[in-house]
Amino acid sequence: MTLIVRTVKDLRQHVRAWKAKGETVGVVPTMGALHEGHLSLARRARSECDRVITTIFVNPKQFNNADDLKKYPRTEEADAALLATVPVDLIFAPLPEEVYPEGFMTTVSVGGVSEPLEGRMRPGHFDGVATVVSKLFGMTMADYGYFGQKDWQQLQVVLRLVSDLNIPITIVGCETIREADGLAMSSRNVRLTEAGRTRAPVLFSAITTAADDIRAGQSDRMAIREAAEKIRAAGFERVEYIELRDAETLMPSDDPRRPRRMLAAAWLDGVRLIDNIPV
Ligand code: PAF
Repeated sequence: MTLIVRTVKDLRQHVRAWKAKGETVGVVPTMGALHEGHLSLARRARSECDRVITTIFVNPKQFNNADDLKKYPRTEEADAALLATVPVDLIFAPLPEEVYPEGFMTTVSVGGVSEPLEGRMRPGHFDGVATVVSKLFGMTMADYGYFGQKDWQQLQVVLRLVSDLNIPITIVGCETIREADGLAMSSRNVRLTEAGRTRAPVLFSAITTAADDIRAGQSDRMAIREAAEKIRAAGFERVEYIELRDAETLMPSDDPRRPRRMLAAAWLDGVRLIDNIPV
């Protein structure tokens, strides 16, 4: 079984010993409830680094709903068994008081890129992510950090943070892992009903068609409107947003010469699904 470490002191002892031998360290930050998407990040880290740490910490600061935090699945034993198949060298699974001891006062807040889309829908979410990710980088002293492109905006926030604060880590953004029918893997997918699960891939297929149509010359607005109609027609309760944005700054973009990203969020069966693709 993989070694599970709970304190920063113990974690650092291991990391210092690795670094003394000149070994590189990769970190895969997670909140647990692991699926194939997380494992693919860990495998990528395994193939590129001498040592791999996976962190499992359900970060209270990034939830804007207390009930959501309470209900978030905690499946450490199953997660550890999955990580042993990669394998990773160490799991860092601290208690909340280790990460946020009494008197903790600091918030890391990234402007601009964290404000629209998810930032608007989930106030405070990215401050919580930026704060915990900064701490995890400091705690693990990792050379490489692995993040999924499924959370595209989060990835851009982390890249900005690392650049702005001169944190000595290289961020590796990894391809979204999808089910055979195109649905992006997410810990939330298990909350869909059977009928919802069969309809859920429409989110991906609708934005894929919209992106193709835009590349073929259709107007951004028309292509997005058609995608939203398809998603609603498939039985989604609500389309929260479908937006074409500059891939890096997340600002609105109608400049096809710059890399652009189509990002979407929609509700199905009371479950909020997000996805994004390059345009
Ligand atoms: O993507 C996640 O699971 C979380 O936002 C992260 C990066 C582990 C920070 O808590």
